[in-house]
Amino acid sequence: MLETLNESLPPHDHPGLVEIVKVTKIYPPDVVALKNVSLRAEKGELIFLTGPSGAGKTTLLKLLCRQEIPTKGLIEIDGNDLNTLSDNAIQKLRQRIGVAYQDFKLLPRLSVFQNIAMPMEVQFKSLKEIRHRVTELLAKLGLSAKLNKPAGKLSRGEQQRIAIARAAANSPLLLLADEPTGNLDAGTTGLVMDLFRELNDNGSTIIIATHDESIYQGTNHRKFELQQGELF
Ligand SMILES: Nc1ncnc2c1ncn2[C@@H]1O[C@H](COP(=O)(O)OP(=O)(O)OP(=O)(O)O)[C@@H](O)[C@H]1O
Ligand SMILES: [Mg+2]
Repeated sequence: MLETLNESLPPHDHPGLVEIVKVTKIYPPDVVALKNVSLRAEKGELIFLTGPSGAGKTTLLKLLCRQEIPTKGLIEIDGNDLNTLSDNAIQKLRQRIGVAYQDFKLLPRLSVFQNIAMPMEVQFKSLKEIRHRVTELLAKLGLSAKLNKPAGKLSRGEQQRIAIARAAANSPLLLLADEPTGNLDAGTTGLVMDLFRELNDNGSTIIIATHDESIYQGTNHRKFELQQGELF
């Protein structure tokens, strides 16, 4: 009996790619956005994070890319404790984390190409490689015709896909996608999920915050729900 029980438990002899341990986030003075949240994501996992508006989904993703700092608790990414990592090490780690923000954060006057190229330029990839990757991503997301358009001139659904392409550009160790299909129709949602699946098959660990049941229903991936800052 005990043996069967042990076999059904996840292995804890190695750290997960993401370890969130008893994390609380309070925005001053008194907004409790996350309460004692613990979550472990194994390397190569794809996880969905759901929950109503204001439940803390974006806050959790911001803590993982260290855009925010927890009030209490521990966060480790790939064995690195975010609380004690030097600024330099944080910058390096961030280069391996792709974030598709809920509000996109594109540079509107720069072209689609320039926006998606940015994280690859930071890593000193060759122009040839950058061109190849940007072209490939735009084709996968149905946006090949927009390569040279200023990002700010695109529709919201198009901008959303550009933000996703930028997050995916370096095939990151960890991809955080915040409501990535919020502005998309069923067809383009399918393209985005195909891209996520491909990245995941190639080893990226992915966390998707979403209200969109269509993208997690019928999948075998783990799903967690946040309710008023508590994780279930
Ligand atoms: N910078 C901030 N300062 C103060 N309060 C904040 C800040 N950011 C978020 N909050 C509050 O923290 C709580 C969680 O917000 P969060 O953005 O994480 O929710 P969410 O689950 O992503 O919601 P949505 O589905 O609407 O995107 C909310 O009560 C929100 O008002
Ligand atoms: Mg949010």
